[in-house]
Parts: sequence; structure tokens; C-alpha cells
Amino acid sequence: SRTVTLATLRRMKAEQAPIVALTAYDYSFARQVDAAGVDVVLVGDSLGMVMQGHASTVPVTLADMVYHTRCVARGLERAYLMVDLPFLSDTDDRAALESAARLMKEGGADMVKVEAHAAQAPVVEALSRAGVPVCAHFGLRPQRVGQLGGYRVQGRDEAGAQQVLDDAQALEAAGADVLLVECLSAAVAARVREQTHRPLIGIGAGADCDGQILVLQDMLGITPGQPPRFSHDFLADTGRIQTALEAYVEAVRTRQFPQLQHTFE
Ligand code: KIV
Ligand code: NA
Repeated sequence: SRTVTLATLRRMKAEQAPIVALTAYDYSFARQVDAAGVDVVLVGDSLGMVMQGHASTVPVTLADMVYHTRCVARGLERAYLMVDLPFLSDTDDRAALESAARLMKEGGADMVKVEAHAAQAPVVEALSRAGVPVCAHFGLRPQRVGQLGGYRVQGRDEAGAQQVLDDAQALEAAGADVLLVECLSAAVAARVREQTHRPLIGIGAGADCDGQILVLQDMLGITPGQPPRFSHDFLADTGRIQTALEAYVEAVRTRQFPQLQHTFE
């Protein structure tokens, strides 16, 4: 088994040591990311976009996730392995448990991540009750792009912010072990952190989280089109992949990343 566990992440939060997370989808990059000292590797359903060339994460299947998880798991010696439940693989307790079983038993995942809001807290509870370590992903939930009509910052007015805080509390109460927030103003993310007790990892959610995550292709500057505002091209700064990964780890650990220009106000 690998070195970083849920206990490590909890201790890092208690000691206010920033948690460094990054996505990976294959064996070669998993090795590099692990060697650079990343604490949590996510096999994200963002693989639908960066590996498969889809416009969203919606087409990604559970079989795709299992395949990429197996590839990544073989490359890790140290990092904790978090894996996404893809769109509509967790529509009820039974489906979620069967999906999680495949990711953990066939794939080698340490933890599953579910995009959820307060109304889906029962699914988080079912997973947790069955012994599955769970990360609840809220704020912007990219699997909902069809309903949202696009990707934008969430919780922008007070009612929206309150909804995000309600989600946070419901998901924590349901047993989520880690919380992950995407595309929130720094102030709203800070309120989530104040009102909850689990390690809080952010992407596009400002500096006031317990950890940071980026999509590997974004931080290497190879995502097609306009890069997201909240990312930074570490490869452009350093010229070598291994050095770029190390620079990202160092920047998060020393709170040099994210800066104000990566943050929504
Ligand atoms: O799929 C993914 O890469 C993610 C991160 C953006 C958190 O869910
Ligand atoms: Na995802």
C-alpha cells in the first residue's frame, strides 16, 4: 500500500500544511507526478476532455475510469489515489456502490469522488456506511454542464453562497471524508472552510483552502484553447516536465499558488 493515507491528509489539515493534488490518467505521468511529491493523484473524469477529446465529461464511462485508474495505480508509490465516479454512475445507492466497487477492486482506487449537492447526500452516506472513503465535489459540478448551460463561477450572490454552504454541511454530515470545491469566489470557499472540518481541496476557489488541485494538461500548458484563469503554465516557466511538476508542488506548499490573478472575487 502507498504512503499517503486519509490520516495523512487529516494531519496535514490540522498542521495547516497545504495538500498538493493533481490529475493523472496514465502510468508514465503517474510516476512523474508521484516522484514530484504530489500528495493526492486524481483520475478525473476530465479525461473525457484531455484524453478523449470530448467537449465535456458527460460521455465518460465507468469502464473508461477503471481502465485509466489501473494504468495510474501501477505508477504510484506514494500518492493517495482518488477517482471520479462518472456521470450517471451514481444515480442511486446501489449504482454508486457497484461503481465504487469496480473503481476500488479492479482499479485500485483509495477513494472515490462524487459530484454532489445536498439532495445527493444519501449517496455519500451509502458509500460511507459501506466503508468507501468519499470525496464530495461541489460548487461548480462539471457533470451538470447540460443543466448549467456552461461553466461559470458558482455561489455568486448571497442565496447562491448559502446553497454552497448548505451543500458543504449536508455532505460532511453524510460522511464525506474530503471536500472539493470548484470555481467559487475565494470568500465563499473560505466560508466553506470555516464551517466544515474535513480537508478542503480547491480548484479555482482561491488560496483559503487546505489544498489545491489542477488538471495536469492545464498546468503543463497543453490544453487546447484559452487556458482557465485559475491555472498556471508551470512548464513554460521551467522547460522540463519533471521540473514543472516539482515547481507546482513547491508553489502550493509555500502558498505561492494560487495568486490573486488565479482567483475569483
Ligand atoms: O475531473 C477532474 O479533473 C476534476 C478536477 C477538476 C477536480 O474533477
Ligand atoms: Na471530475
